[in-house]
Amino acid sequence: MICTAILMEEHQTILRRLVVLANLLETPLTGVLGSVESTLVFFHKYVDEFHHLKEEEIYFAWMQDKDSFLNEDGPVLCMNKEHEIGRTLLEKIETDLALFKSGQANLEKSIKSNLYQYIAFLNDHIQKEDSAIYQVAESLNEKVQGGDAEMLPKFEQMAARYRETMREALEFEKSLVEESPRWLPPTP
Ligand SMILES: [Fe+2]
Ligand SMILES: [Fe+2]
Repeated sequence: MICTAILMEEHQTILRRLVVLANLLETPLTGVLGSVESTLVFFHKYVDEFHHLKEEEIYFAWMQDKDSFLNEDGPVLCMNKEHEIGRTLLEKIETDLALFKSGQANLEKSIKSNLYQYIAFLNDHIQKEDSAIYQVAESLNEKVQGGDAEMLPKFEQMAARYRETMREALEFEKSLVEESPRWLPPTP
C-alpha cells in the first residue's frame, strides 16, 4: 500500500534524527542545549502528534476495523501501548531538561541516560513495525482490498494539518546534508 510506504519513509526521517541526537549526546549538555531542545520538539510534534497519531487513528484503526481479532490483546495494541511509553518518557525528559536549564546541573546524567533509552526504544519500535506490523496490514489488504482508497484521504488531511511540522523536518534534513553530512547514517 502507498500508506505503508509513507509510514516507512517517515520512519527513515525519524531514524536519521535519532542518529543526530546520539551524536549530540557525546558533547556536554550545556554546549548543545538548543539542538537537543529542537530535537525534542521534533519528537513531540513529528513523532508523537503526527506519525504516531496517524498510526493510531488511521492505519491501526483500519487494521482493527478489518480484523476484529486485532482489537484483542496483541501486536496492534502493543504498538499503541509503546506509543504511550514513548510519550511518558519524552515528558520526563522535557521536565528534567527544564529543571536542568533552571540550574539543576546534576540532572545531566539522567537526562542523557533517558535520551539514550528513548533512542533505543524508538529504534526497536520502528523495527517491529517495519518488519512485522506493517506486513500484517499488507496481508490484510490483500484479503480485503481498498486500504489506500480508505486511508489515503485521511493521510492527506493529516498532512495538511501538520504541514508546518513536515516542512521543518524536511528543512532540517536538507541542512544536515549541506552542513553535517558526517551525521547521516551510511546509505545501505
Ligand atoms: Fe508506532
Ligand atoms: Fe511508526
